Amino acid sequence: MATALCPGSFDPVTNGHIDIISRTARHFDDVIVAVIRNPQKAQSLFTLEERQEMLAEVTSHLPNVSIDFFTGLLVEFAKEHGANSIVKGLRAVSDFDYELQMAQMNQQLSGIDTFFISTSPQYSFLSSSLVREVAKFGGDVSSMVPPVVAKRLDERFGEQRGNA
Ligand code: PNS
Repeated sequence: MATALCPGSFDPVTNGHIDIISRTARHFDDVIVAVIRNPQKAQSLFTLEERQEMLAEVTSHLPNVSIDFFTGLLVEFAKEHGANSIVKGLRAVSDFDYELQMAQMNQQLSGIDTFFISTSPQYSFLSSSLVREVAKFGGDVSSMVPPVVAKRLDERFGEQRGNA
C-alpha cells in the first residue's frame, strides 16, 4: 500500500489545495490530508477541527482520501500513520526554497521522501492568506474556494465585524 501525506495549514482549504489532493489521490492507494499547525504562522482564522471539517466535506467525493489533524512534527505523524511519501504543491519558484528546505529536513529526520506536484496554472496566484485577506474586506472569493468555505469565511468575518 502506498500512502501519501498531504500536509498543510489549510486555513482555509482553497481550490488550489483540492486540485493537489485530487491529483495525488490518482497516484497513491491512500491519501491522508494532515492539517498541521504551522509554528511559523502564529494566528489562525479557523481551528484545526474547523479546517478538518471543511476538508472532509470538500473531499468527500474522493474515496481514498481521509483527513486528520496534528500538532507535532510532521514526520512523526507520517510514521504513526504508515505514510511513506509526502506530497506538496508548488505554485511558483518562490515556493521552492522553503519547500526544498522542509523536504530535505524531513528526509534527514525520517528517510521519508517528498514529491512535488506543479499547481495547475489557474491556481498559481492562490493562497489561503490572500483568500483570508480578500474575504476579510468583503471581496468575492467564490471562484477561489468551495461554496462551503466561502460561507464559513462570510460567517467568521461577519462575526468579527459584529464584535468590532
Ligand atoms: O500550508 P503550510 O503552512 O505551508 O504548511 C507547512 C507545514 C504545516 C506542512 C509545516 O509547517 C510542517 O510540516 N509543520 C509541522 C512541524 C514540522 O514537522 N516542522 C518541521 C518541518 S521541516
